[in-house]
Amino acid sequence: MTPHTPRSRALGLHLILLLVTCLLVSQVLLAHEGALSSTESATPWGGDYFPNTLLTDQDGQQVHFFDDLIKGKVVVINFIFTSCSDSCPLETARLRQVQKLLGDRVGKDIFFYSISIDPLSDTPEVLKAYAQRFKVGPGWKFLTGEFAAVTDLRKKLGLFIEGVDNGRTKDHNLSLIVGNQETGRWMKASPFENPWILADQLANTLQNWKQPSIEESYANAPEIRPPSNGEELFRTRCASCHSLGPQDGQGIGMRSIGPDLIGVTRQRDPAWLSRWIREPDRMLAEKDPVAMDLYERFEKIPMPNLRLDENAAQAIIGFLKEETDRQQTLAAQDP
Ligand code: HEC
Repeated sequence: MTPHTPRSRALGLHLILLLVTCLLVSQVLLAHEGALSSTESATPWGGDYFPNTLLTDQDGQQVHFFDDLIKGKVVVINFIFTSCSDSCPLETARLRQVQKLLGDRVGKDIFFYSISIDPLSDTPEVLKAYAQRFKVGPGWKFLTGEFAAVTDLRKKLGLFIEGVDNGRTKDHNLSLIVGNQETGRWMKASPFENPWILADQLANTLQNWKQPSIEESYANAPEIRPPSNGEELFRTRCASCHSLGPQDGQGIGMRSIGPDLIGVTRQRDPAWLSRWIREPDRMLAEKDPVAMDLYERFEKIPMPNLRLDENAAQAIIGFLKEETDRQQTLAAQDP
């Protein structure tokens, strides 16, 4: 486990304690009942660590968290709620790109799960509509369950911060984890991460080299110039949903969730643009006519508020301008 955030340390500690408990328990079992099956002792975090929470997917099918979703599998798990206006749509958009890179391995040897933390609003029907608006592919389940049980699950996965996740607002921390239940290797992941790197972790690193590599490995990711601040922000916060010119910006080749942004700095009023990048949720709430028109045209997926300040917005706008000029020059040179 590379990132040493307090959260991952906390998870690590849980897991170590658990390992100790497992050893003790298995000795007791051995003493009393003979052998414990070798698969159960091979990984420290099995069915005795993870709850077997009953969840319902977007098709109304009931599944158990441990037995049906993670046992023996390589998985991506995140916690979302469909009315979330900041980090969740960004995570969904990013994972959609990762899913595309992994192709038909998703649903076969890599499984995607988005679990709602707002079960009252997020019924299976609501989750299904959400998945359809984002046009996610097969092999990705959107799940809902009982609030207390889901909270417990988040704690077990180290994806719950006291004070943040149970505060009064529905804010929640970025909550993405990837892992292989069989090997016990779990890593927190960031939706800001390059989708090629996430795909590579899932397709190769986490598979313990048992599976053949996917062709779309990180080695094929487009060459990246050292980015400016504005470009870096664009790649990590915006490119999951916006293309910039004929490509999708990450070299994945799929239709973007939001409008292409080439030329947008020429088309829109600078003050409108800056405010939109900082607080699109408020502009949508105020029914800004341009925003409403775009919202209708783009599957009614609201652009998230990414908590950027004026400096960050200006850095991104600067990059959008430069990139528009650069691509125009290239187009002019190429008859
Ligand atoms: C989760 C997806 C998502 C992310 C992430 C996202 N956007 Fe958007 N964006 C949209 C959608 C969808 C629209 C269309 C309006 C709507 O539906 O709210 C949009 C609209 C826009 C527009 C208006 C385009 C026009 O024609 O005027 C701009 C500008 C824009 N986004 C910039 C950004 C920037 C800059 C970032 C990164 C800081 C970003 N967006 C991140 C989804 C996203």
